[in-house]
Amino acid sequence: MEFHVYESARAACEAAGVLIAAQVTRKGDSVLGLATGSTPIPAYEMLVQWYERGVIDFDRVRTFNLDEYVGIDHKNPLSYHAFMQEHLFSKVNLRPENTHLPSGHSAEAGLRYDRAIHEAGGIDIQLLGIGRNGHIGFNEPAKDFTFGTHVVTLTQDTIEANARFFKSPDDVPRQAISMGIGNIMAAKCVVLVATGADKADAVYKTLCGPITPQVPASILQLHPCCVILADHEAGALVERESR
Ligand code: GLP
Repeated sequence: MEFHVYESARAACEAAGVLIAAQVTRKGDSVLGLATGSTPIPAYEMLVQWYERGVIDFDRVRTFNLDEYVGIDHKNPLSYHAFMQEHLFSKVNLRPENTHLPSGHSAEAGLRYDRAIHEAGGIDIQLLGIGRNGHIGFNEPAKDFTFGTHVVTLTQDTIEANARFFKSPDDVPRQAISMGIGNIMAAKCVVLVATGADKADAVYKTLCGPITPQVPASILQLHPCCVILADHEAGALVERESR
């Protein structure tokens, strides 16, 4: 695993944008795995700027997002569908039929999503944030690693962390549909961005701890092409260990 630490959160996120832009430049019909949350926003801002300046072209790019809440209308501004529209889809020349987010709350919905990823040729580069408890997508700490796209019940910690976007914690959906660990591990390249002190423990366990479904991101130690981009706050415990 590659690990890079940056002077600022913004620089760590923009570095992820660089890797995605390089992928799209190398292969015009790339399949991008995309993430929501506050962390990747600067990466999307960079991609939009480079698109506007004619540096990158999304005409043939396909995208698959990691996850979506269950029971939230896609037009709800707090849905991940709306997030992606706001931060990327409405601002670049991605074709609507080439953008995908999981939706629904059945096993069949998960299987359909997995099939669509497979038919697109698999994900070339997967962007990830990380939860305070080490979750990726909405793969929460659990007894086992999951394989494909599935419905999850969110942990209390995740509900509390995501409550900042909603009026109150009671409004945060309790369930989500998420790509599984198998989908993420099948991506040809994975880029995880972590910023802020509240991610330091998760980053440390991801890089230096045992591989365990209790810290879902720790499985990335086995990925052949994974890069973790952190600011000093999120990377603090790893940096201390390597001194
Ligand atoms: C949610 C998303 C994750 C994201 C996490 C962290 O749980 N499902 O994909 O990584 O939030 O979000 P943030 O970047 O806002 O800290």
